[in-house]
Amino acid sequence: MVNPAVPGTVPKFVDPLPIPEVLQPAGWERGRPLFRVRMLQVQQQLHRDFPPTTVWGYEGRYPGPTFEVRRGRPIRVQYLNELPSAHLLPVDTSVHGAEAFRPQVRTVVHLHGGNVPPEFDGHPEAWFAPGLAEAGPSFTTNVFEYPNRQPSTTLWYHDHAVGITRLNVYAGLAGFYLIRSEAERQLGLPSGSFEIPLVIQDRTFNSDGSLFYPQEIVPEFFGNTILVNGKVWPFLNVEPRRYRLRFLNGSNARFYDLQFEPVLPVVQIGVDGGFLRRPVSTTSLLLAPAERADVIVDFTGMEGATFTLRNTAPAPYPGGEPPDEHTSEVIQFRVVLPLSGPDRSHIPSKLPRSLVLDPCQAVRTRDVTLNERVDHQGRVLPLLGSRGLSGRPSPLRWGDSVTEAPRLNTVEIWRVINTTEDSHPIHLHLVRFLILDRQPFDVSRFVDTGELVFTGPASPPEATEAGPKDTMRANPGQVTRLIARFGDYPGDFVWHCHILEHEDHEMMRRYQVVGSRRPTEARDDDEAEDVEEDNDDDDDDQED
Ligand code: C2O
Ligand code: CU
Ligand code: CU
Repeated sequence: MVNPAVPGTVPKFVDPLPIPEVLQPAGWERGRPLFRVRMLQVQQQLHRDFPPTTVWGYEGRYPGPTFEVRRGRPIRVQYLNELPSAHLLPVDTSVHGAEAFRPQVRTVVHLHGGNVPPEFDGHPEAWFAPGLAEAGPSFTTNVFEYPNRQPSTTLWYHDHAVGITRLNVYAGLAGFYLIRSEAERQLGLPSGSFEIPLVIQDRTFNSDGSLFYPQEIVPEFFGNTILVNGKVWPFLNVEPRRYRLRFLNGSNARFYDLQFEPVLPVVQIGVDGGFLRRPVSTTSLLLAPAERADVIVDFTGMEGATFTLRNTAPAPYPGGEPPDEHTSEVIQFRVVLPLSGPDRSHIPSKLPRSLVLDPCQAVRTRDVTLNERVDHQGRVLPLLGSRGLSGRPSPLRWGDSVTEAPRLNTVEIWRVINTTEDSHPIHLHLVRFLILDRQPFDVSRFVDTGELVFTGPASPPEATEAGPKDTMRANPGQVTRLIARFGDYPGDFVWHCHILEHEDHEMMRRYQVVGSRRPTEARDDDEAEDVEEDNDDDDDDQED
């Protein structure tokens, strides 16, 4: 008997991998294609042998439909919350922002990795209730405009409502947002049905097939069942040819260290915000929540072979339990389809010029900290802090005033000082950044005196991280340095840990980009690329 609550009873690799449909525009508005995205509660078959599961989905699908946009062509999106007024999952009203006096169902969509004006960023307090009956203090509109001025890459959109992001995303509110460009097209990568987006998520089910999530906030939630594109342990039949796989870790807290079995090297070409400096051949992909990897895998000559994608990452990462026989399996690829035509795709040996930022451009270095405290109910409270001007690092809460306020279009280095025992995927809205290095330091000395004493040499980022990032692993006992240019829009943004239980439980801070946009920067889409080309050196692709 299959019991969705007991992974050992669930047959693996019996459902084909679903590919999310591409979203079509509903019309035009102000000269831009207008998309309409409704959030709906629906029933979906997550495994052949499960009863249908109630989920939340953009346009009634989990994961949501994929946006395919072109660089330089802005779009508008109207988001409609048509969810019921009671939450699908237990809301812990002791969590900041989720108090009982607020509507239980609140949503706001964030385009993760998007370089967008603050009013369209999906600020956690810009939430709105079903039917727009109520809205949070930062709400201005539910019609967003995405400029799409940035280079081609894998972005994703997901919910971001304060205090319940972990629940809204777990319920199903996430989808892909792919930016296309001419530079990408010229690479001749595998495309069409040979380009596969894969969002990996872990869930736990009740015996009746409904989603399980704890009543009370937990330090991290790890599911016992792995889903890809909304299917439990799916399989994909492939042809003996090259495929482009676009991985996204869309899990709340679980890291994945992925390898094919039998071993099959892949060529990674891209990361969160665009192409890597150069293609990297690798046999494993480490993905923290919200990180992406764009890879080419070559099944040429492998007729009849079966490859299982396995996970070896401990949870929590890196010091926790290794995955069990179930969470160590993700998806199976079977090379059983006949070749439908010649494979004219390429594995590029060079990639379009990517984000370049030089430490000597930095006008300022900020020290920010990752801390662990205990809340008034004795629960783990992960916090971010700022060294501020006092010189003493102080952990701060969501409600504390802004301490990080870079000036528009200036370059800064942030030293992310992790005093905790876990790796935290640190994400900044608005910007793409580069990881400069990681260096071990004396944690107790720092905690006691505020003095930063390094205990070893700095190491550069992995080759698979050497490109534009928006989420990076800040490892325990290390200072991870990032460099970013804080453009293109001034205003209120946030930075946070992307372990969603941490984000909801105050490991999130506002930051502000100060300045005003020059009129030239408000120019229209057809000139946008010139703007980017002449005002910064981070313009990646020479394209379009
Ligand atoms: Cu993907 Cu602020 O998040
Ligand atoms: Cu984001
Ligand atoms: Cu964290």
